[in-house]
Amino acid sequence: MIGERLNNAINEQIKNELESYYIYLSMAAWLHSKSLDGMGHWMRCQAHEEMIHAMKLFNHIIDRGGDIVLQDLKQLKTQWSSPLEVFQDAYEHEKFITGKINDLTTIAREERDYASEPILAWFSDEQTEEEAVSSKITAELEMVGEDKSGLLMLDRELGGRAYPAGSPLDPVAGAE
Ligand SMILES: [Fe+2]
Ligand SMILES: [Fe+2]
Repeated sequence: MIGERLNNAINEQIKNELESYYIYLSMAAWLHSKSLDGMGHWMRCQAHEEMIHAMKLFNHIIDRGGDIVLQDLKQLKTQWSSPLEVFQDAYEHEKFITGKINDLTTIAREERDYASEPILAWFSDEQTEEEAVSSKITAELEMVGEDKSGLLMLDRELGGRAYPAGSPLDPVAGAE
């Protein structure tokens, strides 16, 4: 059974992951409103992954006999000045989440909760990848600068990201 301190900290992280889901969905909406549909699609895929992250933690609490308490989500940013600002925010957000995963790992060790180590190690690896990807796209947008054709090329490229099968965020799957 999971201890109360780690249980509470994971509940907090479920909120952070759901907030990530919500943030990326807000970014997707803004990108679509600017006709950057490839980037909007990329952000929907990102949002889907965050929902999965929240559910991984949700299931872990259930499996460990803990209590899930879902928390309020905060008011979100809905406007950005440029796609560069969107991806800069995404990169900053991923760094913030990495810090939270590190805190959880510290708590799990202090509480000697070895059963939580594999899932937290998975999250740690995932954060390395998410920071790397959002940082790379930010750097590419910086290179593109004011070049509209470069922006369109990058939009097309990011539009190629695959949804996990059956994602409700996929407009094609949702239409079925
Ligand atoms: Fe996440
Ligand atoms: Fe993430």
